Amino acid sequence: FGRFLIWSPRISSTQDLVSQKFCDIPIGSACVADVQFKGRGRVKNVWDSPVGCLLFSFSLQMEDGRKLPLLQYVACLAMTEAIKEACHAKGLPELEVRIKWPNDLYLNGLKVGGILCTSTYRSKKFDVCVGIGLNVDNEKPTTCLNVALQELSSVSHQLTREDILAAFFNKFEEFFEVFLNKGFQDLEEMYYRTWLHSGQKVVIEEKHDGQSADVSVTVQGLTSSGYLLATDEDNKSYELHPDGNSFD
Ligand code: BTN
Repeated sequence: FGRFLIWSPRISSTQDLVSQKFCDIPIGSACVADVQFKGRGRVKNVWDSPVGCLLFSFSLQMEDGRKLPLLQYVACLAMTEAIKEACHAKGLPELEVRIKWPNDLYLNGLKVGGILCTSTYRSKKFDVCVGIGLNVDNEKPTTCLNVALQELSSVSHQLTREDILAAFFNKFEEFFEVFLNKGFQDLEEMYYRTWLHSGQKVVIEEKHDGQSADVSVTVQGLTSSGYLLATDEDNKSYELHPDGNSFD
């Protein structure tokens, strides 16, 4: 991954370029941008993409569609581990970036990054585009990203976007192989150590017969299909699909 790489100073969205050129560039190719003017987030949100952020997308293919919802967790984990690795490599204090389900990266309670996976089914395979936005060094909070890695840490300006990108592709390659060959269960322990939700009490919206109601639940973990599993006080189980669900 990332061995064929286009670095653009300004682009509509790295996600668009990788998706549109999917068949013309080798699988694993990446597009990085300094600035995006039509950046996209989850559920079609606009994604503010100012300078100082690491903004990139890359392609991959998957045959098993049942594994697709789990892919974003693999990418989140690869990024949190990559940030630690990049700090180590430079002799900097480790940054504990945590995962907020399903696709956000948090540092000290503030959103520092987000991940978006989109896919198209073609010729018996899923063509997937993984897009990541991480605020490395932009001091102005945006509606999407509240804080920069540099701001909340003593790493100052020594950690670059290139350091993190290179570390990310190394980690992602390692984790993706485990994910494809052994399944997400082999990464789960590390994932649960990194996410913010073990045993957390949250309020979710339950939709039933066209009505919706708030329900207080306790997070239990992920199902093998990548849904969030939670139980209420009567031990009734709830499974939340990662698309279109999140909580505060
Ligand atoms: C989210 O938190 O909603 C996910 C945001 C993903 C943003 C990245 S930035 C690089 C790539 N290009 C885009 O237009 N979006 C993703």
